Amino acid sequence: MPPLRLLPLLLLLAAAAAALDTPTPTPWPEQFHAVVFTNLTGSGGRLQLIDLYYDWPRGRNLNLIRGQLSGDPTYDVEWTNGTSYFFNATSCRTKLFPVGLLPPDWLAAGAVYLGRETVAGFDCHLWTKVDFVWYYEDVVTHRPVRWNFFNGMQQHVMSFEVGGVLEDSKWQAPARCFSDQHTVIADPGAATVTDDRVEGEDGKLDVMNAFFRFVGAPAAAAAAAASV
Ligand SMILES: *[C@@H]1O[C@H](CO)[C@@H](O)[C@H](O)[C@H]1NC(C)=O
Ligand SMILES: *[C@@H]1O[C@H](CO)[C@@H](O)[C@H](O)[C@H]1NC(C)=O
Ligand SMILES: *[C@@H]1O[C@H](CO)[C@@H](O)[C@H](O)[C@H]1NC(C)=O
Repeated sequence: MPPLRLLPLLLLLAAAAAALDTPTPTPWPEQFHAVVFTNLTGSGGRLQLIDLYYDWPRGRNLNLIRGQLSGDPTYDVEWTNGTSYFFNATSCRTKLFPVGLLPPDWLAAGAVYLGRETVAGFDCHLWTKVDFVWYYEDVVTHRPVRWNFFNGMQQHVMSFEVGGVLEDSKWQAPARCFSDQHTVIADPGAATVTDDRVEGEDGKLDVMNAFFRFVGAPAAAAAAAASV
């Protein structure tokens, strides 16, 4: 039995040890290429295979989206100055967001640790952020394994290539994106649980954009995104 006057100190050490036990999410590499299998069937959609190129130093993120049994891919090019271009072979939609892209350490601030869970055979740490995304990280390799969105959309990371980049020419939005003037100004609540706009294929893109924009944004924007 330790002397009574040491008890506060011991309690403090115990609390510190407990805090150390809560793992912190591993920041993303500044550049990576991931192949992401996306399951939208839980939210009324289909299956997709997405090539994701995250390029923080150049302030950009790209989703090359191939729908199941559909020939023509859709590009979602997100620039950190706020502009997003969604285009395929025939059309283009431009959106202007008030915030930039997710920084590599986007999950560290404001994430809630939910413990360990085995997903698809991988032992993972699980965090959630602003009730928008549930993020699974491999306990051993620290690679992301999966993330789920509030709307039932599930993304499974099939490969994760640190330093993987896409050549500059592939980021260029086509001329049709600049010929019409239909830029939509997006508000922070553009894709939330209560918002009808998350329905439909455009809505799915909005969810991904909201992820790459608002989930990493300063607390105020994230709170606005969660509460609208
Ligand atoms: C997709 O998600 C739905 C709903 O969560 C699930 O029932 C189904 O098994 C999943 N399919 C695949 C191929 O992952
Ligand atoms: C952001 O950058 C992209 C790519 O350089 C450009 O096309 C777009 O016009 C820029 N948007 C704004 C608001 O400056
Ligand atoms: C391109 O996207 C638009 C809008 O989502 C869609 O209506 C059109 O069918 C798509 N074009 C092709 C060739 O898939």
